[in-house]
Amino acid sequence: MKNLFKKKEALMPGEAERREKVLQRMKEYKARGYRVPLRKLLKTEAQIEGIRRSGAVNTGVLDCVAAHICPGMTTEEIDRLVYDYTVAHGAVPAPLHYEGFPKSVCTSVNDEVCHGIPSPKVVLKEGDIVNVDVSTILDGYYSDASRMFLIGEVSEECRRLVRVARECLDKGLEAAKPWGCLGDIGAAVQEHAEANGYSVVREYGGHGVGLEFHEDPFVDHVGKRGKGMLLVPGMVFTIEPMINMGKRHIYVDADDEWTVLTDDGLPSAQWEYTVLMTETGAEVITG
Ligand code: MF3
Ligand code: CO
Repeated sequence: MKNLFKKKEALMPGEAERREKVLQRMKEYKARGYRVPLRKLLKTEAQIEGIRRSGAVNTGVLDCVAAHICPGMTTEEIDRLVYDYTVAHGAVPAPLHYEGFPKSVCTSVNDEVCHGIPSPKVVLKEGDIVNVDVSTILDGYYSDASRMFLIGEVSEECRRLVRVARECLDKGLEAAKPWGCLGDIGAAVQEHAEANGYSVVREYGGHGVGLEFHEDPFVDHVGKRGKGMLLVPGMVFTIEPMINMGKRHIYVDADDEWTVLTDDGLPSAQWEYTVLMTETGAEVITG
């Protein structure tokens, strides 16, 4: 759906020249056969400011969840926390009614890979690992990030999965360099996951974000260095690897048509950041 909210933002002093340089360099890469982003994917400085403010609320939501999550809590209660915090800060939870999603946040427990729906029936218990995926719209600007939470004492096996999934995100971040390629990110994530005996989910990935919830490009968490779309300063996208303890295969729950689960029933872990490509690297704009 088109975002009707958005005004065309004016350029900052000197921005037109800065933008022109980037576009010129992009043209040179294109002539050499690189896939380049459409120019609308390069955010203006005013848009970046808006996305940063959205990201600050989004981080606040996750910090609020971190402060309250505990054994015995239901995922419905997490949904309530997210909704209340978000609207109290003048923002809107992006998942709510997104393509029919019924709640304000995704909560995915153990063998749930992503898109878990909060429910009063899901009670968090000692030993669970939970992904809480928060996305915020502030003044029409979108941000998106998720963290894993350990509920009480968690097995060494699951703690290792959560840690390695986190390292996969960090490796992806480090690999994201301006005038590099999306494949550099995928390769870094995939190598680290597989070196640890885990697998990477392919059907879902990161995405452009900012003016819409899901924009181009699709950010694969597997790939080859030097392949895929060119990374250009001004792009804003998520890195959000889903790492499975067992096989990579997944399915969608036929009853709720949202929850994604591992085929083999083994746990899955995911961390997500929204990042801005700068002249030096990927800057994290959510926490
Ligand atoms: N937050 C998810 C992402 O990282 C998208 C969730 S869509 C929803 O892209 F509808 F399930 F919320
Ligand atoms: Co996302």
